[in-house]
Amino acid sequence: MRNSILLRTLVILLGITTIIACQEKREIINFPKTDLSTENLIPLPLKITPTNSAFGLDQFTAIYTSNDAEFKKVGAFLSNKINTKIDLDVPVNTATDKTPTKVIYINKTENLELDNQEAYQMYITQDSVIINAKTAAGAFRGIQTLRQIIPEESNDTLTEHKMWLVPTGKIIDQPNFEYRGAMLDVARHFFSVGDVKKYIDILAYYKFNALHLHLTDDQGWRIEIKSWPKLTEIGASSEVGGGPGGFYTQEDYKDIVSYAAERHMIIIPEVDMPGHTNAASLAYPQLNGNGKTPKVYTGTHVGFSTFNTRADIVYAFVDDVVREISAITPGPYFHLGGDESHVTKKEDFNYFVEKVSKIVEGHGKIPIGWDEIAHADINKSAIAQFWSNEKNAKTAVEKGMKLILSPGKKAYLDMQYDTLSKFGLHWAAYIPVDSAYVWTPETYVEGIAKENILGIEAPLWSETISNIAELEYLAFPRVIGHAELNWTIKENRNWENYKVRLGNQAPYLDRMNVQYYPSKLIDWKKSKHTYKTIVKD
Ligand code: ACM
Repeated sequence: MRNSILLRTLVILLGITTIIACQEKREIINFPKTDLSTENLIPLPLKITPTNSAFGLDQFTAIYTSNDAEFKKVGAFLSNKINTKIDLDVPVNTATDKTPTKVIYINKTENLELDNQEAYQMYITQDSVIINAKTAAGAFRGIQTLRQIIPEESNDTLTEHKMWLVPTGKIIDQPNFEYRGAMLDVARHFFSVGDVKKYIDILAYYKFNALHLHLTDDQGWRIEIKSWPKLTEIGASSEVGGGPGGFYTQEDYKDIVSYAAERHMIIIPEVDMPGHTNAASLAYPQLNGNGKTPKVYTGTHVGFSTFNTRADIVYAFVDDVVREISAITPGPYFHLGGDESHVTKKEDFNYFVEKVSKIVEGHGKIPIGWDEIAHADINKSAIAQFWSNEKNAKTAVEKGMKLILSPGKKAYLDMQYDTLSKFGLHWAAYIPVDSAYVWTPETYVEGIAKENILGIEAPLWSETISNIAELEYLAFPRVIGHAELNWTIKENRNWENYKVRLGNQAPYLDRMNVQYYPSKLIDWKKSKHTYKTIVKD
């Protein structure tokens, strides 16, 4: 089997080499000396070996892929992104009227130096870029690296046509952590499908593979549940500050899921319970367990709501909600919340989490919960998300559970940069751009080893932000640092080196019209793209 794949690969490569060799007129180009290792890659790959010449991407370049539907999609994605970046058409697996003299080959192979399912190797020579990967996910991570090293500007002096010089060399790469997540709170303020897609597209560029959507909270319920229609008829039309709210239909949600899947990212749906449930209880008061009549809530306090954990109707409700959402969620996880249930008695809380974990597993998903769930008697396959309480994190690990790390002091994107920040809170810390990057998740919680950690997730709570520009002001550039903490091994991370590479992200962020916070700690590269700024200072 392995031999036959190898043989097929060789045949394809031979074919490509023949195409190249058959060109009647090979231009001899004196490429300038390049250095692949000083490119502006974020996250930094595992190993880069420069060979100091260049691959000239131009109108005679074509993309080829292995004959695999998912690899073909990766090829099409790359072609599309090259086109939007430099306005060059690069055909994919098709003969064109122009003979391709150079190829970008996205190759499915078992024959990699690295084990990881998302690993890739890239060989860049003067004639070809070969990306080898076992999986389409690995190939997809590889093409993000390539996108980052294709320059914005062409070199117009080496040949009569435009040529974008990609430095030659070899990259071998794989992720440091398997779970590389961001979270968006669409409950405190609602964000449109378009906003969420924009965020996903940029996260994918930095090799994230998960977006956790905090879909429900006291202020609003944001996902259509067909068997409990009042959740959105009543529970969705409020948000912090009294705005109109909103919700995703199941079709909207599926649209987000498939947009993420095209980028090899999963969506993790969160229904926060038994606390943070005022909006659900407003729609269906029989769920309520705090003894008060639920009212629309547009403030920002937490910890006043709870489901009635001893009422059968609550579990019938949870079963329907988990079933409907799980049916349209291909990823393996369902987040049941569990944080800040301050008015739920401890024994009721644990009873609830145990029952709901079983419901989640019954619908084929792995439960995730905020670190408070560590005290419930649940299967060790459940995952605890550490956000505040180290003791909870340690309890979870002692039980054999894995952790997602989201320490408020380092990973919370809604913390203000400093006292002058226009948006955000500071109950955990002020988090300037360096502080978000300069920490070591591998040893952050004393006594918790790397093998207990799935990865880090950067949550963005939306009490103080209500549109995409404000979202971007808090998320960028800090979430780019979290991308590197997740992907790049500890030995390769270094603030002084990172901050130069971060400054060089400005042209990409500007091109994407991202309203990032222009921290003075960073020397931002000037770019040709200018957009009306909304929140930059
Ligand atoms: C949380 O910040 N309440 C998880």
